[in-house]
Amino acid sequence: MATILADTSRTFSEYLLIPRLTSKNQQVEAVDLSVPLSAVEKNQTPRFRVNIPIVSACMQSVSGTNLSIALARQGGLSMVFCSQPIDSQVEMVRQVKTHKAGFVQSTSNTTADTRLADVVETMQRSGHSTIPVTSDGTASGKLVGIITDQDFWEFEDDLENLVRDHMTAMGNVIHGSEGITLREANRLLHQHKKDCLPILDKSGNLTALVFKKDYVDHQRHPLELLDESKRLCVGAAINTHDYRERVPALIAAGADTLCFDSSDGFTEYQKEGISWIRENFGAEVVIGGGNVVSAEGFDYLVEPGGVDFVKVGMGGGSICITREQKGVGRGQASALLDVAERRDRYFEETGRYIPLCSDGGLANDTQIVIALAMGADFVMMGRYFAMTEESPTPKTAINGQMYKPYWGEGTHRAQNWQRYSDEMSSRKMMFEEGVDAYVPLVGPLSEVLETTLYKLRSTMVNVGADNLSAFRERAILTLVSEQSVVEAGTSNVFQFSRNRELPDGDWGGGS
Ligand code: IMP
Repeated sequence: MATILADTSRTFSEYLLIPRLTSKNQQVEAVDLSVPLSAVEKNQTPRFRVNIPIVSACMQSVSGTNLSIALARQGGLSMVFCSQPIDSQVEMVRQVKTHKAGFVQSTSNTTADTRLADVVETMQRSGHSTIPVTSDGTASGKLVGIITDQDFWEFEDDLENLVRDHMTAMGNVIHGSEGITLREANRLLHQHKKDCLPILDKSGNLTALVFKKDYVDHQRHPLELLDESKRLCVGAAINTHDYRERVPALIAAGADTLCFDSSDGFTEYQKEGISWIRENFGAEVVIGGGNVVSAEGFDYLVEPGGVDFVKVGMGGGSICITREQKGVGRGQASALLDVAERRDRYFEETGRYIPLCSDGGLANDTQIVIALAMGADFVMMGRYFAMTEESPTPKTAINGQMYKPYWGEGTHRAQNWQRYSDEMSSRKMMFEEGVDAYVPLVGPLSEVLETTLYKLRSTMVNVGADNLSAFRERAILTLVSEQSVVEAGTSNVFQFSRNRELPDGDWGGGS
């Protein structure tokens, strides 16, 4: 007969943290959110850390180039998805690694002979208010001027007019020369009171733009995750099918961590993959494994020569229907508590600390906090990032509200059969384990993350912790009854501010 576990499968929303003594010298702003992402021996320094405990999911509708850049700039790490040809994944990693902070390639350009009406359309579509005017309308053409939304009035000027009659022509455009440092570029912006500085090569061709808003953003978010050569860090997902070709290419492109992307990582296939990478690339490469939902799965992946971090979770993702379809999985809180307890014992026994990642099913900021209190070193999220400006999908208006498409890797759309099957024989998906959906657009990643991180720091101070390891040590959690969930909301009051589509404290829709 089957074994029946004594505990119920529980989720994060069933728990609350008990506040503990906060000392007078604890400041929310001073809380350290950095965590190790690589296995670390007792009293040693980890080979790789992230500055905030948040990574983005290995998903087509989440971890593209722009999101990877935006998240690394905030101190987190993106895992570029592997459900794409090796070449295109490598190109995404390469673009992040070669991204020169502050210097961006212009994605909206025009020519002097374009009608203003077309420029208005470009500005609306892209959200950009400054458009370079180049000889051929490309991002690398000869710069002939700059047109901004200050150069014409959409409802006063004749939109049949040409760009050349309204733009600031080249003679009056303040610009920098290729090779200029970011510091010098920002000095020019400051000196000339400009919002945008085009950078030109010796022949006058446009090579990049530098924006004042990026400078301001950087000053506000100094946690950028950089490697030793000051390049942004990025992770890359891998699968158990083509790692022999994919891993060497990703490492050559500069990926900072590798992460097996599998719905069930408790397999001999994954073990073989890990061993192959260790044999060919040594102990230095940072490898994540999973997903597992039990202490037994954890033990299997961390055996000597095993992974650096373990991803926990099955069936909790917002777009996930695995539990319905196959009857496997585990409540995310129960899975994490079981694995975290084993991880802590493993540390006592071996002196080797293995970071844990809680993957999927986080519906709001509170649940991130609970996951970190329960023993996760960091969390992986899909929906959270799919909702931001920087996710790779197009904005879509539905009934006057802006949305972004978000689909699971187990959908026919993603065709990620490698994530759901280890056998080479089943190269197609017989049934779906995810859904194809929309999520509300919530704005730029930096703004959404700022609130999340502030709340996290603030809860840590309630518990008297000024770093995440102290937070785990000090955390005392209690199970909540249904009645106390009701009590946690407001009662018998009418709040105008809450009468809106996205409830306060939730990233939209719930999951
Ligand atoms: P979310 O943050 O709740 O949206 O969950 C994201 C996580 O769901 C990912 O990191 C994956 O572990 C998992 N996932 C991605 N695609 C699918 C799918 O199609 N079915 C089941 N789980 C998925």
